[in-house]
Amino acid sequence: MVAQASRMVAEESRTMHQQHDPKNPARRNFFAEGASVVIGGIIGVVPVVAGARVLLDPLRRKSKNGAAIRVASLEALPPDGVPRKFPVISTRTDAWNKSTAPIGAVYLRRTPEGVVTALNVVCPHAGCFVDFVMDKNCYLCPCHNSTFKTDGAIGDAKSPSARALDSLEVEVRGGKDVWVKFQNFQAGHAEKIPCT
Ligand code: FES
Repeated sequence: MVAQASRMVAEESRTMHQQHDPKNPARRNFFAEGASVVIGGIIGVVPVVAGARVLLDPLRRKSKNGAAIRVASLEALPPDGVPRKFPVISTRTDAWNKSTAPIGAVYLRRTPEGVVTALNVVCPHAGCFVDFVMDKNCYLCPCHNSTFKTDGAIGDAKSPSARALDSLEVEVRGGKDVWVKFQNFQAGHAEKIPCT
């Protein structure tokens, strides 16, 4: 009886020793496999979460056309009715990086009444960039001399452009930031046909 009890104690001791033995390969493999499962899970989940954020957040869907983009502060636009040119910078966010790139430009104008308007700088005739000529108070296209009034309407009947400058949707957010729904339109048509 005593001998049997001694054998049981010895067996138990050996089992406990194996469980705490760092050289025990079976135990090492168990922990290594467990760690690789956890790390693999983390590596797999992070891109999925980041991708979901990109897909679900509308402001992160940065298509070149039709995206609402912050263009300027309202402070940068004096209420004098004079158009001012601003670049349109698109922000692209993928799983790991955030980058910016210019995708166009707009003329913003704030009237003394506080109305803010936006025009795409691209001439609807054939796609050149128009300039605002301060002393003539109009836009002039340097390519074929189309002219446009400050509100974008065709300036004179001889202008080859078939339509006015392309107006864009504007929103002043929080009373301080000017956001524009930026869009390019096909040149050479009397109607505004969005580029895709
Ligand atoms: S591209 Fe502007 S007038 Fe021709």
